[in-house]
Amino acid sequence: MKHASLPLCGEFTVGDVDKRIFGSFIEHLGRAVYGGIYEPGHPAADEAGFRTDVLDAVRELQVPIVRYPGGNFVSGYNWEDGVGPVEKRPKKLELAWGVTEPNLFGTNEFMAWCKKAGTDCMMAVNLGLRGAEEARNLVEYCNHPSGSYYSDLRIAHGCREPHNIKLWCLGNEMDGDWQIGHKTAYEYGRAAAEAAKVMRWTDPSIELVLCGSSNGHTATFGDWETETLSLAYDKIDYVSLHQYYDNKTDDTPSFLAKNMAMDDFIRTVVAICDYMQGKRHSKKKIHLSFDEWNVWYHSNNDPVERWSFAPHQLEDVYNFEDALLVGLMLITLLRHADRVKIACLAQLVNVIAPIMTETGGGMFRQTIFYPYLHASLYGRGTVLQTPITCQKHDTKEFTDVPDLDGVAVLSADKTELTVFAVNRDFEADYALELRLLDLDGFTPVEHLELAGFNLKAANGFAASPVRPTAAPLPETDGKTATARLRPLSWNVIRFRKTAP
Ligand code: AHR
Repeated sequence: MKHASLPLCGEFTVGDVDKRIFGSFIEHLGRAVYGGIYEPGHPAADEAGFRTDVLDAVRELQVPIVRYPGGNFVSGYNWEDGVGPVEKRPKKLELAWGVTEPNLFGTNEFMAWCKKAGTDCMMAVNLGLRGAEEARNLVEYCNHPSGSYYSDLRIAHGCREPHNIKLWCLGNEMDGDWQIGHKTAYEYGRAAAEAAKVMRWTDPSIELVLCGSSNGHTATFGDWETETLSLAYDKIDYVSLHQYYDNKTDDTPSFLAKNMAMDDFIRTVVAICDYMQGKRHSKKKIHLSFDEWNVWYHSNNDPVERWSFAPHQLEDVYNFEDALLVGLMLITLLRHADRVKIACLAQLVNVIAPIMTETGGGMFRQTIFYPYLHASLYGRGTVLQTPITCQKHDTKEFTDVPDLDGVAVLSADKTELTVFAVNRDFEADYALELRLLDLDGFTPVEHLELAGFNLKAANGFAASPVRPTAAPLPETDGKTATARLRPLSWNVIRFRKTAP
């Protein structure tokens, strides 16, 4: 048994959690929409064609916001193709993913789905092949009450009330040469600034996300943020980050340290934003939108038939070690609650997703569903400084990797305290001493763990063995509670204030 210690003080905080960091993403890609959230004729479909089994799972996750409609898809998308009478909507070649898009589902269907799922929409506009004109028209269509061409068009399409979408992405991954309408930093910075200007003139209440780098290792990383921010700083509110990790080399110790690279990525983008703020002597602070993150590699070589409709695409089946890294990435996002205000687990259904469906059939919860669920349910409130003292180890890719990683969140009403922790050690149990310095009257009420599985164990339609179980409650003397963290485990240790 190894020993670790974590002093927790309610006064020493990192920042308040913006619930939008538990967001997700639905792109017109593979079976995310068709056969995922929308499948008319499915036995579980409602009158709108939405799968109610999927809606139940999304509501269980309490997803606060869902990014839509892409992703790479948005850079070739004409939003007008997806509204109005369905029989008149065009069937188009979708170039981002090489498939056919029938436009049976579009903006109004998505907004109706959001309402049923109890979530908000984070809408992306096309700054690949299109620009400011089409973007401001979409804002008018969605948010203007009535009395203008596009707002009246929405009403004619059956949506009397405006959708009131507050959060908008200015394109997607515009730094990447795979992107339809890929741009240089100068081209994108100017396009984003002009689109932002007229979108905000159309609805001053909206918030805008500038595309940052597609990951932390692109050739243009850093320069991209600096140049685009210098062109659009005053017009935007957030900069985006995207990052996916893989274990292609089957080096699990390094894989489980990859959230340390995510930490560095966030710190660097924060530094660039603050540098730009200082340089401009601006009062405005730019925050971060980590609007695509996940593990992604299992499905990379799966063949897709060109121009097919809703093929099985990017359907990663996640295993236990993926769930551990997803938990670690959630810990990293929470740790940066002061600057990361939005984050989207990419994606939500079927496409690199926590929820998997069979077209015409059932559904199952992937391994990664559970850390996402726990963080969304118990990770709201104020993040406390979480200085864990434990042993460290080296991996092939990282040095000084703490055996334990974790974060503590105090609920807004200060009656619940949750510690999320991963034990990266392959063999040792850890006794984690949680020293509740000024947190009087808190007693442990639950310790959930995901532990004891083969690293490659996965869930499926037939059986879902990888699921959380209740661990013994930490032993406590009222001041210190000692939890046992099993080797290679995700842990959610919950306290409730039971005495003054
Ligand atoms: O989420 C899958 C894809 O990953 C998105 O379309 C794109 O933005 C990213 O490269």
